[in-house]
Amino acid sequence: MKMKGETLVILNFKTYMESTGLNALKLAQASEEVADETGITIAVAPQAADLWKITEEVDIPVFSQHIDAIEAGGHTGRILLESVHQAGAKGTLINHSEQRMELADIDMVVQKSSKVDMTSVVCTNNVDTSAAAATLKPDFVAIEPPELIGSGIPVSQAEPEVVEGTVQVIHDINPKVGVLCGAGISTGDDMKAALKLGAEGVLLASGIILAPNPKEALMGLVSKL
Ligand code: G3P
Repeated sequence: MKMKGETLVILNFKTYMESTGLNALKLAQASEEVADETGITIAVAPQAADLWKITEEVDIPVFSQHIDAIEAGGHTGRILLESVHQAGAKGTLINHSEQRMELADIDMVVQKSSKVDMTSVVCTNNVDTSAAAATLKPDFVAIEPPELIGSGIPVSQAEPEVVEGTVQVIHDINPKVGVLCGAGISTGDDMKAALKLGAEGVLLASGIILAPNPKEALMGLVSKL
């Protein structure tokens, strides 16, 4: 499941109580309703323990938040690709700012994802790391300046040059790699600005999850497309 070429929204559930357990299921169902009503591809990335339940209940793509660079065997507490794949995950975030990985490990998870047709989204923090990530041939690089994560200040408006620089460098290195941007994104204007800068979509969390009405917030996010 590659998804490149579509406008893509990935809602990262992180570990907020508002997006944990039963709340995760409700948020995934609300995301599915918005996807059905608008035709926009919305993927959700719940915690590993919530994955199986959510993939059984909704038809939108469900992603893992992280996969460890391991093969099956003795690795207590880690996340095995084969496990999330069998739980129905269609893709995974890799190297999120809150779960950084070594370069060789990122490479291993990108390659393992590709073998089972799971969409790989490698998160980066600046133009140089985006360039490095693109050489590993993931499906997407998601540029997220860490200082803006959870800030409510949208990267597409606060640091447009980082998004544009990432789009440019990835286009030069491997135009098959899609670019997403994230950090502080919450409104339709933020999303519109991201696409105008050349991103194919957004990766976001708090602006939707912590909104008084997440479905309404998600509707607002895609309202200007
Ligand atoms: O993975 C999405 C993320 O790190 C951005 O978080 O809360 O700024 O939308 P937020």
